[in-house]
Amino acid sequence: MALVKIHDKTFEPFIPAEKLNEAVQEIADRMNEELANKNPLFIIVLNGAFIFASDLIRKFEHDCDVSFVKLSSYQGTKSSHTVRELIGLDESVTDRTVVLVEDIIDTGITMDNMIHQMKGMGAVDVKVATLLYKPEAFIKDFTIDYVGMDIPSDFIVGFGLDYDGKGRNLPEIYKIID
Ligand code: IMP
Ligand code: MG
Repeated sequence: MALVKIHDKTFEPFIPAEKLNEAVQEIADRMNEELANKNPLFIIVLNGAFIFASDLIRKFEHDCDVSFVKLSSYQGTKSSHTVRELIGLDESVTDRTVVLVEDIIDTGITMDNMIHQMKGMGAVDVKVATLLYKPEAFIKDFTIDYVGMDIPSDFIVGFGLDYDGKGRNLPEIYKIID
């Protein structure tokens, strides 16, 4: 795989599609055991999680509902530390088992915000699933129930993740080099 240039930055291959698929399958296997009779409501955090979520949901073999919220916290290659809600939830979470689906947990600010909102709206159980997790950047203390892979704090793109809007369509994950 070759280097990729997006805007002013260069990225190198980091996680191949095959490994991503394995990580998604492992999460799905656990969910198929643990959430089989819960009729979970999967809430997909747009935009970044759309690719992960579409793979994950198709591997879930039991009754479920799927809904979406659109949040934004990153500007360029850095967290802005404030979460903007661009599209809200149009579905009741009262008495539901909610599974928040994220592409990546970095500082944890976005998810922390979502967890509090879901509990405030009456969800009985709020679970968190993320394809990728940057433990060195995490500043919150909630439990992440399902993690595909831990990664270092480098900025990445591909498989749904973007750099200023570009790179989401790359089928594997690339890491910034300069
Ligand atoms: P957090 O609130 O700091 O945990 O950031 C979470 C959000 O920031 C994720 O949902 C992503 O949309 C975005 N993000 C975090 N790290 C990266 C990255 O390396 N590349 C692209 N987007 C990222
Ligand atoms: Mg995201």
